[in-house]
Amino acid sequence: MAAPPAPARAAVLCGTGSFLPARRVSNDMLSATLDTSDEWIRTRTGIGARHFTDPGTTTSDLAAAAGARALADADPSGVDAVDTVVVATTTPDRPCPGTAPVVAAKLGLSGAAAFDVSAVCTGFVYGLATATGLIAAGAARRVLLVGAETYSSILDPADRTTSVIFGDAAGAVVLRAGDPDEPGAVGPFDLGSDGDGVDLITVRGGGAEQRLSGRPAEPGDRYFAMAGKQVFWQAVRHMAKSSRAVLDSAGWRVDEVDHLVGHQANIRILNRLADDIGVPRERSITNIAEVGNTSAASIPLALDQARAAGRLHTGDRLLLTAFGGGLTWGSTVLTWPNLAGPAQSTPTAPPLSRSQSRSEESTR
Ligand code: COA
Repeated sequence: MAAPPAPARAAVLCGTGSFLPARRVSNDMLSATLDTSDEWIRTRTGIGARHFTDPGTTTSDLAAAAGARALADADPSGVDAVDTVVVATTTPDRPCPGTAPVVAAKLGLSGAAAFDVSAVCTGFVYGLATATGLIAAGAARRVLLVGAETYSSILDPADRTTSVIFGDAAGAVVLRAGDPDEPGAVGPFDLGSDGDGVDLITVRGGGAEQRLSGRPAEPGDRYFAMAGKQVFWQAVRHMAKSSRAVLDSAGWRVDEVDHLVGHQANIRILNRLADDIGVPRERSITNIAEVGNTSAASIPLALDQARAAGRLHTGDRLLLTAFGGGLTWGSTVLTWPNLAGPAQSTPTAPPLSRSQSRSEESTR
């Protein structure tokens, strides 16, 4: 007799964490060196401030700080080993190797599978899909997924169209193997891309294309460039279409969505998105005013901060949707789980590492 089919395994969210570097840069501070104003930035983007790292602090540092909090949240006793670390980032510590193995080592998780996901502002949603697939296939049981960025390292300080928009941050979640019907189970997904839009959001230099072009690198090649107006409308269109597709797959009506967690690109994009798909704006979670667009960190940071603010309740239905360079887009849904740990606000100073905490305890 054939063996009964193995039960479906879902990725279930069981912990969150986030980290913001301490240096807060207000719009007025940017206006001191750029031809811009607090009024223009607030009106056109909804951004009032962002955080930037200081020299010497890298993406892996922010990722490890957020990851440590997510791990402690998911498992305060430190018993349940994470077997896979995924880092979604546009700003890896180095072009080679990936940043995830470095993050794993910083967290005392050497030996775990570790790799990066590169999908710019959609990176966290692509990372969720990747983690979900690994867990469903039985290739992973417990995954730390971090979205982490140091855009300050690729912004052209003289470009007012990009410098005012992006910020540095990290957000993390822990996913464990579980039941598709339990709160916290992630999915289904809708993912897509359009490589014809490669030039709309790009860093031209530093890759094989530029190195093999035979032309010397221009100074501006190392900076992030964006065609803001075209990106604006593509972001609204793709996030709205992808949101509808994933709601359809999940069998959820739009009025059943308690929280829309869109990629924090621009408050006008988030408002248009909510209006287009028919989610009341007050159900849209936004933190862009204080952190700006933090790319792959944006959704997990918004989730962790909304949780700390007491906005997310067990059983609430969340729609997550993102759009970014590539072009890429993606959406998923989940029902908010019952997370045991107390909600905490995002720190701006790194926590002690797990090994540090243990050695401190042992010397008490
Ligand atoms: N301060 C003052 N003026 C600025 C400015 C700034 N920081 N940035 C641009 N301007 C100027 C432009 O030069 C232009 O001037 P002009 O009319 O004399 O040519 C004017 O403001 C309008 O520019 P425009 O690009 O049409 O503004 P916009 O309303 O489209 O807003 C963005 C620009 C970048 C904020 C907006 O297009 C946007 O948010 N795009 C999406 C960006 C994004 O989220 N990307 C990531 C997606 S993952």
